Amino acid sequence: MDGNGRWAQARGLARTDGHRAGEHSLFEVVEACDEVGVGWLTVYAFSTENWKRPKDEVRFLLNFNQDLLVRRRQELHERNVRVRFVGRRDWRVPKRLIARMDETIELTKDNTGLTLTIAFNYGGRAEIVDAVKLIMASGVPAEKVTEALIGRHLYDPSMPDPDLVIRTSGEYRISNFLLWELAYSELLFTDTPWPEFGRDALMVALAEYQGRDRRFGGVDGGG
Ligand code: IPE
Ligand code: MG
Repeated sequence: MDGNGRWAQARGLARTDGHRAGEHSLFEVVEACDEVGVGWLTVYAFSTENWKRPKDEVRFLLNFNQDLLVRRRQELHERNVRVRFVGRRDWRVPKRLIARMDETIELTKDNTGLTLTIAFNYGGRAEIVDAVKLIMASGVPAEKVTEALIGRHLYDPSMPDPDLVIRTSGEYRISNFLLWELAYSELLFTDTPWPEFGRDALMVALAEYQGRDRRFGGVDGGG
């Protein structure tokens, strides 16, 4: 969900107004995914690198995300959305925010619609490091380490690898998002900043995705 700050600055607004505006996009995308039957949507809300931002912006993002969860979780629940989180729950994440996350997970855990995974204090490299730590601590011998074993130690082992990754705002980078999981994902980069990305932009992206030819390292028609 990139481009909030630049979108706001281009309008003479504060960067934080851009984050506020992004809430509308998020809910449009959630609704649209739900409508067309996308089963899993993962959004990058806060990265392990975002702590480097000015203190005020970090504080805003922590408060804003907490507030958003509290204001909108009932609505997500009524939409049958199952909310989950991936990321490190380290000392930097306020306990009150973790409590709101856990309540939201609990509230929505039996829902059968869209799974909305919020990547918060998430880094793809951190996720791999954390998986390796768990594996080593379990005493698994080196020769038993497989891709499947690593996959089972990621933050949410039940999350399927993404079919499509969309990056908004004209940046052509992965920026530490789902590094392990996106090995064969289709990547789509759009200049649209996140506050302007909504239902229509998602439909355009899905149409482009449908035109892609996914071979997973094989050849067309190969078995
Ligand atoms: C994305 O918008 C939101 C977060 C990473 C929290 P940015 O804040 O990265 O906006 P730009 O990239 O500075 O425009
Ligand atoms: Mg950015």
